[in-house]
Amino acid sequence: MKHFMSIAAVAAMTVMAAQTAKAEPQAEVLHWWTSGGEAKSVAVLQQEFASRGGVWTDMPVAGGGGDAAMTALRARVLSGNAPTAVQLKGPSIQEWYEEGVLADISAVAEANGWEDVLPANIAGHMKCEGSWCAAPVNVHRIDWIWANADVLAKNGIAMPATWDEFNAAADKLAAAGITPLAHGGQAWQDATVFEAVALGIGGPEFFQKAFVELDMATLKSSTMVAVFDQMRKMRGYVDADFSGRDWNLATAMVMNGEAAFQIMGDWAKGEFLAAGKRPGIDFLCASTPGEGFLYNVDSFAMFAVDGADKQAGQALLAELIVGQNFQKTFNLNKGSIPARTDVALDDFDPCAHASAQDMAASNYGGSLLPSYAHGMALRGAQAGAITDVVTAHFNSDMSSADAVEMLANAVANSL
Ligand code: GAL
Repeated sequence: MKHFMSIAAVAAMTVMAAQTAKAEPQAEVLHWWTSGGEAKSVAVLQQEFASRGGVWTDMPVAGGGGDAAMTALRARVLSGNAPTAVQLKGPSIQEWYEEGVLADISAVAEANGWEDVLPANIAGHMKCEGSWCAAPVNVHRIDWIWANADVLAKNGIAMPATWDEFNAAADKLAAAGITPLAHGGQAWQDATVFEAVALGIGGPEFFQKAFVELDMATLKSSTMVAVFDQMRKMRGYVDADFSGRDWNLATAMVMNGEAAFQIMGDWAKGEFLAAGKRPGIDFLCASTPGEGFLYNVDSFAMFAVDGADKQAGQALLAELIVGQNFQKTFNLNKGSIPARTDVALDDFDPCAHASAQDMAASNYGGSLLPSYAHGMALRGAQAGAITDVVTAHFNSDMSSADAVEMLANAVANSL
């Protein structure tokens, strides 16, 4: 097992953390936050970093869900020139740790009492063999449905509470000439809709068994066939031009009334808010039909780099990211809720309140689950194998039974 950078380097970084004033903090930050709401959010971190004397070099890699950003990261690390800070999350943090390229940020975590202010399951994702290897910024919920309030009202439609209600609403909208579901045909967006449908139709235990434990019987079950049946229906509810569309353009279709619904994580809310739309008035939010809560925690990992200025930059960034002020302001823009438990939500909107309440309730009830589509549940190879099948099914006339067989085989081959 490879480890973090050497003890001497860790010690040097600890000294750096305590003496940031002596070196000008520098950070080259790789992230994929390029949409309107996302850019506004990451600007909060840039401003805080600058106000503490930091020099930020931006490395945005456009592409929702971060697939392109992760390809860029691999190229940089392979060429021996890792960025100082990288938007990285879930099991991929552990995968990079195992390659021996992450910096240990335990000194910052301990100095700032992260253990006391982060929920245990979130902290768990941020630790590598007991040491802190990433800093969490938020909790995004995936299983959301967003709607244009006017379009629903004009068509006499309420937010659907079951998939049958969703299908009935979608049929009615289609008959009225409105695109029922705004969607972008990119693999990660297909996967986002799929996991919300799977949670809703199969329930939390099914989700856990299928997409966390990769249980073969569950992957091959008749419930999974029903999930693909619903996906076939979803395919019929998107417009003809859905292929390749970016997620924020799909959100714009809901904003301007061209489409009624979008199933997307709550970064979509960041987009509505950045465009001046008001929750409950211009747009509506509700969890997708069914029980449970799919979480997606964004975080930053620091890569092992040389140079006191870069290491000071890493320590400062880590400190700011988990800081109370940043967690509030960033998340107000981003659509998510703070990862810290001690940030007051008074200034947050009703969708954020619903998210926080549902997260607490589902945590208590055992239905708080990691998003597979957003890299929280599985390692890259397994998640990729599932998504390939979801996308192949969505973009063809493959039967649900064939999709299920293909799914089980793809997962078995990825293990
Ligand atoms: C998610 C990420 C979000 C948001 C989204 C769209 O994976 O966690 O913060 O950026 O992709 O790009």
